[in-house]
Amino acid sequence: SVEDCILINIPQINSEAGRLSVAQGSKMPFDVKRVYYTYDIPSGAERGGHAHKALQQLIIAASGSFEVIIDDGHSCKSIFLNKPNIGLLVKPGIWREINNFSSGSVVLVLASDVYTESDYIRNYEDFKLHKK
Ligand code: TYD
Repeated sequence: SVEDCILINIPQINSEAGRLSVAQGSKMPFDVKRVYYTYDIPSGAERGGHAHKALQQLIIAASGSFEVIIDDGHSCKSIFLNKPNIGLLVKPGIWREINNFSSGSVVLVLASDVYTESDYIRNYEDFKLHKK
């Protein structure tokens, strides 16, 4: 459910020369097999608009801010991300949409598996059927 989609703290190392965050090993909720990021996102754009059957993801605002709307078929929740050391864990079977991107924002995603189109549910009606 959306309640299983928790915020995860990514350890931060601070110095006079800035901050460094590292996502590794046992501090992570799953083994990371893929990293991807979206950027140059035009204002007003919406991304996401799908669910995954098995994939787990950690969504991080590496730069800027945006809103993630998660939906388990029964309830919805909106989470505002604007910190590079906080990740939103999105479990399988959750419809997600991402919008309200600030200019220059970067969506960094750590994923539990490689890209497989057959793991996507891209149609909301199919998602609702899948949840029954
Ligand atoms: P998609 O996951 O729909 O992006 P978003 O959720 O951010 O809107 O992916 C957009 C396109 O990129 C789609 O055609 C599939 C392709 N893609 C890959 O080829 N490999 C990947 O790892 C990802 C995430 C997407």
